[in-house]
Amino acid sequence: MRARVAGWSNTLADLSPPAALPQQANASAGIGPPLWLLAELTYRCPLHCAFCYNPTDYTNHSRELDTAQWIDVLREARELGAAQLGFSGGEPLMRDDLEVLVGEARKLGFYTNLITSGVGLTDKRLGDLKAAGLDHIQLSFQDSTQELNDFLSSTRTFDLKQRVAAAIKQHGFPMVLNCVLHRYNLPHVDKIIEMALAMGADYLELANTQYYGWAQTNRAQLLPTREQLEAAEAVVERYRNTHGERCKIFFVVPDYFERRPKRCMNGWGAVFLGIGPDGAALPCHAARNLPGFALPNVTQMPLREIWYESAAFNRFRGFEWMKEPCRSCDEKTEDLGGCRCQAYLLTDVAANADPVCDKSPAHEQIVHLVRAAAAAGEEREQPILFRNDANSRKLTAEQHAANAAQAPREPR
Ligand code: FES
Repeated sequence: MRARVAGWSNTLADLSPPAALPQQANASAGIGPPLWLLAELTYRCPLHCAFCYNPTDYTNHSRELDTAQWIDVLREARELGAAQLGFSGGEPLMRDDLEVLVGEARKLGFYTNLITSGVGLTDKRLGDLKAAGLDHIQLSFQDSTQELNDFLSSTRTFDLKQRVAAAIKQHGFPMVLNCVLHRYNLPHVDKIIEMALAMGADYLELANTQYYGWAQTNRAQLLPTREQLEAAEAVVERYRNTHGERCKIFFVVPDYFERRPKRCMNGWGAVFLGIGPDGAALPCHAARNLPGFALPNVTQMPLREIWYESAAFNRFRGFEWMKEPCRSCDEKTEDLGGCRCQAYLLTDVAANADPVCDKSPAHEQIVHLVRAAAAAGEEREQPILFRNDANSRKLTAEQHAANAAQAPREPR
């Protein structure tokens, strides 16, 4: 289907015009530069979304780089060749120095995106961010209704988000509205699109939930039915045909319902470089999930060395790490074996084929999860666990207890 986007919510990376790349110094053979830098400035967030992709143990990583350290990261990443920069979190507006960082990024020649819930995006900050050179804003909504928006984020923020959307337009920013989809709001897709059109959004990203972090914890509650998805896709296609010129609509595919995996991050260590609040360098959004995986940190190693030399970034580059059925698969150059984190979460072995692929021996597990969710219908008893500090500590303690009962694990 036209304009379906595989994988993580990454519309901005697809949309934004890249700034000119600087000259590349001697990159190691075969490894290109990072193109997209995601700066997760903080895990602090005023929202408590049930599908947040941040690690469930984020309270274990509360240390944050200071302003000077972040500026070093931006400079080093730009020297490496990164052109797109997303400021994310948590909620990046929780950082008082966001305007300073945007200004530095602008001077360095990045194309900058602010990925925000809108909470804290006052008229003053919008003006200051404009003056600092911010290029683009992605504003999240949870639904088109106040009731569901506020329920899913466990806040009262719907009205505020409406006001913020209007202010973003008044300040002349290009605006992406983002809405994560799941069984609660898939039936409202037409209303969500109407809301985006009424707000004058330039792009709408409808991102079906990817089951990592808090979304994985709440998977039994969030998984939609195939019928819901097909109905929503038909609605999206209808609106594309009638309103596609006004607002470009992206539909991030729900990979549990696919038969081939997403080309996650466009390849491990290929173009994406994430930096966590504490300076951990992340080859993908969910890399903290992988057990026994020593993530390099920008406070201890130059970014160039992290990108080209570190064990973490080289672990799943290329094809040598692959096991069967990926190793001899004639489609491996298409999907690159899918998602390492999903393989780990569902099979306990990160180097296994992504079970979304129907050639994977574990594919039946996903089929079963989807069937079980459909059979449970509205009667899903497991309560939603909202992202907040208390739940993070509880899940972290449970994970520690589970780990203590097992032998130490290596990423395999
Ligand atoms: Fe796909 Fe980590 S999220 S490789």
